[in-house]
Amino acid sequence: MDRKEFLNSMGMSAAAFALINCMGCKKSDGSNDADTTGPTGIDFTLDLSLATNAALLNNGGSLAINGLIVARTMTGNYIAVQRSCTHESYTLSYQSANSRFYCANHGSTFAESGAVTNGPATRSLTAYHTQLTGTSLRIYS
Ligand code: FES
Repeated sequence: MDRKEFLNSMGMSAAAFALINCMGCKKSDGSNDADTTGPTGIDFTLDLSLATNAALLNNGGSLAINGLIVARTMTGNYIAVQRSCTHESYTLSYQSANSRFYCANHGSTFAESGAVTNGPATRSLTAYHTQLTGTSLRIYS
């Protein structure tokens, strides 16, 4: 039995088979794509005395965790935004020298607040609250 005979025996056309195969396909227009929105229900704490979080002890440092980029700006403020680009969900990087988040996929840039500063992205990054208590940095929605 070849593929066509198999599909016919299942009562399915090739088009229907392709549609089912593509049900998990990712949208490419970036609209309402779960991967282009920030995670919800965020509430965790980083112990800055741990070596794994040492990047956040210095101005300009950053790390990726729980779908976010947590960074310490050049002026010493802690910020946190979603890690995925709002255009097509490519992973962003923090560029402290330029005070921005950058997407190498199509060149979108975002201010440290998460606001779009250069397209093609049109939607701001989800930004999260940060609160430093001693060496504990809380990040929350
Ligand atoms: S994925 Fe297109 S600009 Fe980021």
